[in-house]
Amino acid sequence: MAAEAKSQATTAKRLYDDRAKVYDDSWHPSFAKYIVDCANLQPGEKLLDLACGTGLVSFPASKKVRPDGSVIGVDVSQGMLKEAYQKLKQQPESSNVTFFEHDISDLTTLSAIKEESFDVITCASAFVLLNSPGESLKSWIKYLKPGGRLVVDVSHPRNQLSGIVWEKVHQQLGITPPYNRTWVKNENSLKILLHQAGFDILNSKFEFKEQIGYSKHYLSIADAESTAKESISSTANNALNTPTHKAKALQLFQQEWKSLSNPSGTLLEIDGKEPFVGIVALRSRCGSPLRNGIISSL
Ligand SMILES: C[S@@+](CC[C@H](N)C(=O)[O-])C[C@H]1O[C@@H](n2cnc3c(N)ncnc32)[C@H](O)[C@@H]1O
Repeated sequence: MAAEAKSQATTAKRLYDDRAKVYDDSWHPSFAKYIVDCANLQPGEKLLDLACGTGLVSFPASKKVRPDGSVIGVDVSQGMLKEAYQKLKQQPESSNVTFFEHDISDLTTLSAIKEESFDVITCASAFVLLNSPGESLKSWIKYLKPGGRLVVDVSHPRNQLSGIVWEKVHQQLGITPPYNRTWVKNENSLKILLHQAGFDILNSKFEFKEQIGYSKHYLSIADAESTAKESISSTANNALNTPTHKAKALQLFQQEWKSLSNPSGTLLEIDGKEPFVGIVALRSRCGSPLRNGIISSL
């Protein structure tokens, strides 16, 4: 598992170092704000923002917890953290934010993070990148105070379909994919992992409405070949786009694409509007009342 986690972190570094400068030119800023709203942060609270990237959650969150609260952001990509530090320089009022370069699937060697010291943990748009999501949740829960909140999201299983198909192709060729979404089968998949890790679900009904904006649409089985040829050259598919794997990868993509189609030859693709993209969960207090009920209004 340690070797797997290391290779995931190494791949994430490569992908996000490359993307860092343009990362914020996307739907991520509005999604991050949405995650901050869901966390319902209060003045004085301490937040651990896992896979903080360029700080899209950390900075708005830092405003909410002022004057006495603080934010620690952790990410493995130097490129993303460089952008975050740049913002920090331009925002002296954000002196309550600290960033660390570290792999979030093993926080035990990050001495700045103490057990039972955070009111809230966020992990926005990153949980589906981790090799062992259940193990990660189990390792994170101890950093929350009892009753502390976790805000985490996963994508709908029909969101960004070509990514799902490429993930399956990686698996079939025995190559670790750069993301890990195929375990999300339905709205219970994340809840099950959370329960197994010792969390109670507080809210799982929130919906994000602005990812691309199409809500849902249908792709065609006839697009299998062109989609495969266009998308194999994306950085996420570097390990497949090689003389050894390319031909087989293209063929497998087309097979998998077809297997996702319905009898009329179309494939349903979902944007970010579906429920269960995000969940607020609490570190269980073994039956004692929740520390507060503030999230119930979401
Ligand atoms: C899609 S970005 C999300 C960034 C930020 N949370 C946001 O909402 O904008 C995914 C982030 O996860 C980070 N990441 C992926 N795997 C990681 C790991 N094992 N440890 C730390 N960071 C990781 C990447 O470097 C990248 O910054």
